Amino acid sequence: MSLSVVILAAGLGTRMKSTRAKVLHAVAGRPQIEYPVGLARTLGAASVIAVLGHQLDQVKAAIAARFGEGAVHIAVQAEQRGTGHAALQAAPLLAGDGLTLILCGDVPLLTEQTLRTLVETASQTRTALLTFRPQSPRGYGRMVRDASGKLVKITEEKDCSDAEREIGEVNAGVYCIPTRFLVESLGLLRPDNAQGELYLTDVIARAATMMDVRTLECPTEEVMGVNDRIDLAEADRVMRLRICQQHMRAGVTIPVPSSVLVEPGVQLGRDVELGAGVELRGKTQVGDGTRLDAGVIVTDTIIGAHVHVKPYCVMTESIVSDGAIIGPWAHLRPGTQLAENVHLGNFVETKKTRIGKGSKANHLTYLGDADIGAGVNIGCGTITCNYDGFTKSKTIIGDGVFVGSDTQLVAPVQIGRGATIAAGTTVYEDVEPDALVLTRVKQTTVPGWATWKRAAEAAKKAGKPVPPRPWRTGK
Ligand code: UD1
Ligand code: CA
Repeated sequence: MSLSVVILAAGLGTRMKSTRAKVLHAVAGRPQIEYPVGLARTLGAASVIAVLGHQLDQVKAAIAARFGEGAVHIAVQAEQRGTGHAALQAAPLLAGDGLTLILCGDVPLLTEQTLRTLVETASQTRTALLTFRPQSPRGYGRMVRDASGKLVKITEEKDCSDAEREIGEVNAGVYCIPTRFLVESLGLLRPDNAQGELYLTDVIARAATMMDVRTLECPTEEVMGVNDRIDLAEADRVMRLRICQQHMRAGVTIPVPSSVLVEPGVQLGRDVELGAGVELRGKTQVGDGTRLDAGVIVTDTIIGAHVHVKPYCVMTESIVSDGAIIGPWAHLRPGTQLAENVHLGNFVETKKTRIGKGSKANHLTYLGDADIGAGVNIGCGTITCNYDGFTKSKTIIGDGVFVGSDTQLVAPVQIGRGATIAAGTTVYEDVEPDALVLTRVKQTTVPGWATWKRAAEAAKKAGKPVPPRPWRTGK
C-alpha cells in the first residue's frame, strides 16, 4: 500500500528564543529536520511532504542540501493556525487509497522500527498513533478513554477538565491514518477550542467514532519533542550516544561516547578508536585500525587504515592514506592528499597539497599549493611562500629531496629530485636534481664579545666607565 509522509515543520519554536527556525537547530551535528525526512525515505515513502512556514527558504535549502532538490515536496503554511491547519496545507498533495504517516519536524529521536510497527498496525480501515507516559504530562494532549479503555479523543492541556488533566498517557503527535479519511476529516476541522486553532487531534477523535484506532505506547526518549534548548541538548545527547553505540556494536572503540560526535552518514572501519571529544562530520570515512586521539575534528575527509592521528588535529576535505601519522596539532585544510606512511608533526598546516609516500614534515611548517614527491624530508620551519599578494603559485618538490630547516620556498618554484636545500635557505629559482642550494651570508665570529658584553653591562649598572669594545660595526 502506498505510503505518504507529511512532516509538520512550519512553527518558529518560540521557546527556543532564536532567530533561527527550530527545525534548523542541530541534533548530533545535523539540522533536526533531516531526521524525520531521513526516516520517511528509509521507510520507502512514495511521497514526502514537508509543511513549512517560518524561514521557508532556509529550511527548504537545508533539506535540499542533504537529500537533493525535489526529493521532498513543500507545502506552505503562511500563518500558523494549528497542527490541523498545517496538515490541511499538505492535503492537495495527498491522494489515493494509501496511508499517510504524520511526523513532526521537532521529534528527532523516533526510530525506524517504531515507525514500521506503526505503519504495519494501520490499514485502510484502521488508524494508529503513538502515545507515551512522560514524567509530567504537562503541555501534552491527554489520551481520553472510555470505561472500556477505548480511545474517545485527545484533549489539549488548555482544554482539559480537572479530571482529564490527571491523565498520564499523552499523544506523541505521530499518526498513521488512511489517506482518504485524513483528507476528508481535515476539511471538516473547526477551531472550536481554547486556542482557536485547527487541531489535528480532532481527526483522531473523528476516527474513534468511525474506525478502529490503535495506540502504541513507546519510550518517552523516542518521542520527546524539542521545544527549548534544554530539550535540544537532551536530544543531542541521546542521538550522539545512539550513533556511537551503533559504531561500538560494529567494532569501534569509544571510551567516552558522551563527548564524541559522529554525524549520521560517517563510515568507520573495524578497530577504529575514537578518543574523547572527537568530532567526525559530513562524508568522513575512517579505515580499519585507525586511531583518532582526543579532540580530533574531521570534516568530509577520507582517512585510510592504521593511521594514527594524535590529539587536537583538524582535517577538512582531505585524503589521508594508510599508515600516516599526524599531529598533535596539525591542520589539514581542503585539498590535502597524503600518500601512505606520510608523517606530519605538530604545528604543520597543509592546503591544496599532495605529499608522496613516506615523506615527512615533522615540525612547524606551512605547505600550501605544493606537490611533494615520495621520501622527501621537510625540515622544521619550512614555508611555501605561495601567495605574492595577487596570485597563488605552486611549489613542486621531487622525490627524495631534503629540505633543511627554516627554508622559504618562493613559488612558483621547482626542486629537482634528490636535491638538498641547506638550512636557512630562501629558494626563489628552480633547483636542478641532486644539487645543493644555499643562500647564506658568511658567518662572522667575534672572540670574547660575550665576556665584554657582561662586563659592559655590569659597569653601566655600577656607574663606572664602559670598557672598550673588542669589535665594532659601522662607524
Ligand atoms: C501537539 C499535539 C499534542 C501532542 C504534542 C506532542 C495538537 C493540537 N496537539 O501539540 O496533542 O501531545 O503535539 O508533541 O496537535 N506546526 C505547524 N503549524 C502550526 C502548528 C504546529 O507546522 O500551525 C508544527 C510545529 O512546527 C511542530 C508540530 O507541528 O513541528 C507540533 O506543533 P506544536 O505546536 O509543538 O504542537 P503542540 O502544541 O506541542
Ligand atoms: Ca511540541
